[in-house]
Amino acid sequence: MTTHTHMNFVKVCKLEDIPSQGARRIETPMGEVALFKTSDGQVFALRNQCPHKHGPLSEGIVHGHAVTCPLHNWVIDLKTGEAMGADKGCTPKLPVDVCRDGQVYLGLTLDTEEKIPA
Ligand code: FES
Repeated sequence: MTTHTHMNFVKVCKLEDIPSQGARRIETPMGEVALFKTSDGQVFALRNQCPHKHGPLSEGIVHGHAVTCPLHNWVIDLKTGEAMGADKGCTPKLPVDVCRDGQVYLGLTLDTEEKIPA
């Protein structure tokens, strides 16, 4: 059985809907995603699950380009989804694009054999 994947960018919210140095939770066909906005105005998207014990990263503290998990304080790199320091683990990251009109688009990798609406 062959599977084909392609990237499907969907409009999820406006840039201003994400609090600065905070996060917004988005429901997607692939599960919950956390959109983070850093103090320099960049936006990152990670699956809303800590690689440790699935803590909700959207409720963590954003600092620099990292978020501290609210459950046991693991620090996750927003660019890579990897745990920093001595901790080992990685949460999936998703591509995100902010258009000039201030809309935020999230890239969802869709397996075309799954019945997921485009
Ligand atoms: S669940 Fe995130 S640090 Fe434990």
